[in-house]
Amino acid sequence: DLSPIDRAKFVAAKRAVEYVEDGMRVGLGTGSTAAWMVKCLGELVRDEGLKFTGVATSKRTAELAQQVGVPIVTLDEARWLDLTIDGADEYDHNLHLIKGGGGALLQEKIVATASDQMIVIADISKQVEALGAFPLPVEILKFGWQTTKALVEETLVSLDVLGQTTSLRMNRDEPYITDEGNYILDLHLRRIGNPRQLSLVLNQIPGVVENGLFIDICDIVIIGNGDGSVEVRD
Ligand code: A5P
Repeated sequence: DLSPIDRAKFVAAKRAVEYVEDGMRVGLGTGSTAAWMVKCLGELVRDEGLKFTGVATSKRTAELAQQVGVPIVTLDEARWLDLTIDGADEYDHNLHLIKGGGGALLQEKIVATASDQMIVIADISKQVEALGAFPLPVEILKFGWQTTKALVEETLVSLDVLGQTTSLRMNRDEPYITDEGNYILDLHLRRIGNPRQLSLVLNQIPGVVENGLFIDICDIVIIGNGDGSVEVRD
């Protein structure tokens, strides 16, 4: 009795957890698709005695892991991971991603980069010809954020990126605050011609902590469909 979209997320998550083996250290992503994956892992721990350790990419995911009985440690305790399973806001045919719609891009990128392998789980609506229809999240420091915003906008103009408007992410009347205590700028770009270059240039601006482009980080995308079928891309 799942809706087609939830069924798609669930079957992708269910397939992804087959990659988790006893003794592994596994990064646990954030978002509604990743939440299915954490629940599936909880079932494997309970019903099949799977023994692994998780590292959460957000407070939200850490809480969920605790609720469903998935053992977690900090990244500093685990240090390096075998695998990370996470959702995404967009993926392209090179398996480059936009992430951070849920605000957890910084910890997600640190955890995915610490992993031998990253698997993205998604429904087909996340697939794009070119990244950028989804607003690109950029985590910035609170200190001098208006200056940082202006520098980001100048950078977009100098790169000739189309349709640039930037907005500070809000949570009702207040700026949205990330788990690390920072702000998020959402860049409305429509189409990112050269995501690798944009990622590098954004991260050179001092107030920018990290951006939501994941370049050469994802190894496998598992796509779930509403009819319960699954497709694996690598
Ligand atoms: C969280 O910061 C994001 O990177 C999520 O991975 C992304 O927003 C996907 O979330 P959904 O699975 O809910 O679409």
